[in-house]
Amino acid sequence: LRDQAVAEITAAEDLKKLNDVRVSWLGKKGPLTEVLRGMKDLTPEERPVVGSLANDVRDTLTKTIAMRQEKLEAAMLEAQLATESLDVTLPGAAVKQGQPHVLQQIIESLEDQFLGMGYKIAEGPEIEEDKYNFEMMNLPKDHPARDMQDTFYITPEILMRTQTSPVQAREMEQHDFSQGPLKMISPGRVYRRDTDDATHSHQFHQVEGLVIDKHITMGDLKGTLLAVARQLFGEDHDIRLRPSYFPFTEPSVEVDISWGPVTEKTKPEDIQWIEVLGAGMVHPNVLRMAGVDPEIYGGFAFGMGPDRFAMLKYGVEDIRNFYLNDVRFLKQFNQKG
Ligand code: PHE
Repeated sequence: LRDQAVAEITAAEDLKKLNDVRVSWLGKKGPLTEVLRGMKDLTPEERPVVGSLANDVRDTLTKTIAMRQEKLEAAMLEAQLATESLDVTLPGAAVKQGQPHVLQQIIESLEDQFLGMGYKIAEGPEIEEDKYNFEMMNLPKDHPARDMQDTFYITPEILMRTQTSPVQAREMEQHDFSQGPLKMISPGRVYRRDTDDATHSHQFHQVEGLVIDKHITMGDLKGTLLAVARQLFGEDHDIRLRPSYFPFTEPSVEVDISWGPVTEKTKPEDIQWIEVLGAGMVHPNVLRMAGVDPEIYGGFAFGMGPDRFAMLKYGVEDIRNFYLNDVRFLKQFNQKG
């Protein structure tokens, strides 16, 4: 029996045949199983003899099959290697490379510029306390200006931040002014209960800026914002400040950027202005609430909208495009061209 089995195993010329042989010899219906099953009819003297013989045969067959299988597999691999050849001199297929989202690109370029001017980048929570988002920004509970920012409340005291200004309060609280001025920007997402349309999104971005030191003036604010505007939109742009109102700054301004070329000969009334951000001199109440003495320190703050910047810079007409993640739209802003 064993010799016949070994002969069949050796003759099996592929893995499937080998498996058939294995099943026919070692399977439930194979002769070996039959022998073992017949043990109960043997005499007690015969049993150990037949048993160990049967086990020997099974071991031999199992080993032989394993060896044969290894050989067949090796042969298959050889055959495969022989037929498949690889031309390593062929040019490779270009790997599609991702890129930062267009808004991220704008934010990063702002970050680079402010880091260069000695600002630090601060972060705060998007789920924020009413205290930081409003109260410490000089907006007590019953303040009518709260209506300017439709708010998603989670509980009466917890909300989705409507602006990045709360990071100002958090940073001022922490800052040790004996160690020098506080200069920070805080980029991040903000949320408002607006109905989405071409110019509104319930989620958008702000880059807050804050400088607190002795002897900071509105001239410092204007110079800073002009530098930022020119770096982002080009050297031929100008800015102008218009009086406005924010609860946390006094005086407050809205900042416009000139659109279209402005030369020596352009008449002031011919310049087209587009509003781009809000800013002002930090309100004494805001300083006081954050533990900063307004008799000694003062400064400016501004709130920029990267979404708005990107729309202007690239002529995007619908803010919702930034949030749809349509690759065909996003691909247009490939920095590497
Ligand atoms: N937080 C203001 C807003 O969202 C913008 C702003 C920031 C204005 C800082 C002035 C100073 O409308």
